Amino acid sequence: MDNKPTFLWGVATSSYQIEGAVAEDGRSPSIWDTFSATPGTVLRGATGAVACDHYHRMPEDVALMAELGIDVYRFSIAWPRVQPGGSGPVNPAGIAFYDRLVDELLANDITPWVTLYHWDLPQELEDAGGWPNRDTAYRFADYAGLTYDALGDRVQQWTTMNEPWCSAMLGYVVGAHAPGRQDARAGMRAVHHLLLGHGLASQVIREKAAAQDRLDGLEVGITLNLGVATPASDSAEDKAAARWEDGLSNRLYLDPLLRGEYPADIATKVAELGSPLPVQDGDLAVIAQPVDVLGINYYSSRLVRSTPVGDNGWPTPEAVDRDVERTAMGWEVTPEALTDLLLRLEREYPGPDWYITENGAAYDDQPDANGYVDDTDRTNYLRSHIDAALAARAQGVNLKGYFAWSLMDNFEWAFGYDRRFGIVRVDYETQQRTPKRSARYYADRIAAHKANE
Ligand code: NOJ
Repeated sequence: MDNKPTFLWGVATSSYQIEGAVAEDGRSPSIWDTFSATPGTVLRGATGAVACDHYHRMPEDVALMAELGIDVYRFSIAWPRVQPGGSGPVNPAGIAFYDRLVDELLANDITPWVTLYHWDLPQELEDAGGWPNRDTAYRFADYAGLTYDALGDRVQQWTTMNEPWCSAMLGYVVGAHAPGRQDARAGMRAVHHLLLGHGLASQVIREKAAAQDRLDGLEVGITLNLGVATPASDSAEDKAAARWEDGLSNRLYLDPLLRGEYPADIATKVAELGSPLPVQDGDLAVIAQPVDVLGINYYSSRLVRSTPVGDNGWPTPEAVDRDVERTAMGWEVTPEALTDLLLRLEREYPGPDWYITENGAAYDDQPDANGYVDDTDRTNYLRSHIDAALAARAQGVNLKGYFAWSLMDNFEWAFGYDRRFGIVRVDYETQQRTPKRSARYYADRIAAHKANE
């Protein structure tokens, strides 16, 4: 009936990391505007105020994607553009940008893949309590509905949340990300409300799609950052450390989403530590909405050992260095762990279509006089991880696609512009875009795969 490819190739970005134009067309401040404006939070005081100026250069950026030959583009929508302040009606000038983006993509034969939340919570909602406040989940579902109303006639791929672990843990427990709070109890409340928001938004999108006879082809899901924590030894302590890390970063999300229950060991332990998951009757059924697509963001894995419990009573596994290459983030390059992860997911959580919704690497790029970067390190990283993903697929994993992170260098959160993940270089002085060697590699790899499949 249609000639949709069986494996989709894409690139990914997110709104706050590339758009800039933070005060244009009625956009209200997000927690990242506030956080990055606070001294000492982001390297060199960088902010996303201009970023890649994508808001004004969108057609040029879509043209770059078209040259790569990608099938699908994963981008996120800035909630404070579409619904300033996080409540009330849609902002026509804000949604118009995404309207144009979707049209531009479709005109270039690129499928739009929307992420509704990639960390830019309207500041007003944080002032009202943020994700630790249950009401934020309902606000999110409302925003999801408004966005679906505007784009649902052309967009069929909907991801609710990107990496809720980061929002909850880095945002509310560790404080390295916006809103910069350090409160474990708030963090566990955030975990539950992010998942609840996912479930509520999924329901709204499906209801609206059904009412308009658009269920055919609709794919609703969520993206998680999943890793592999391997015990450093056979000792019971190290095994427990690895199990705890896996629980807190993987199972705490996978289990409620795909099995309808929180992992008992983690739920019990966090409650004992004074940070219970604030589950109300019926919540788990909402969270466990059918997941059409489970997106996996994979970058690295860790060998961990147990360390004495810290002041707050939380187990704190520690990474043990392995003799392997590291990226500029300090993350170990471990492609084989990606194969293991995918095989485990298919075995333990069968059902969804799996996509690698992000994979990539920061390296210390050295441009030549023309701005060209001969990034063999990033090229090798992409090659080995694509190989690892396809190896799992060859072993029966229902893996449906791969997205490189990222289309272009961008605002790398607490690292500002000091870490470059792009396969296209951005010169932040001139905003010139220059495809790196890795972009050429990726384009060739896509073409070769399509020719052989
Ligand atoms: C995952 C996040 O979704 C993305 O925003 C970030 O830039 C990459 N990891 C790299 O750290």
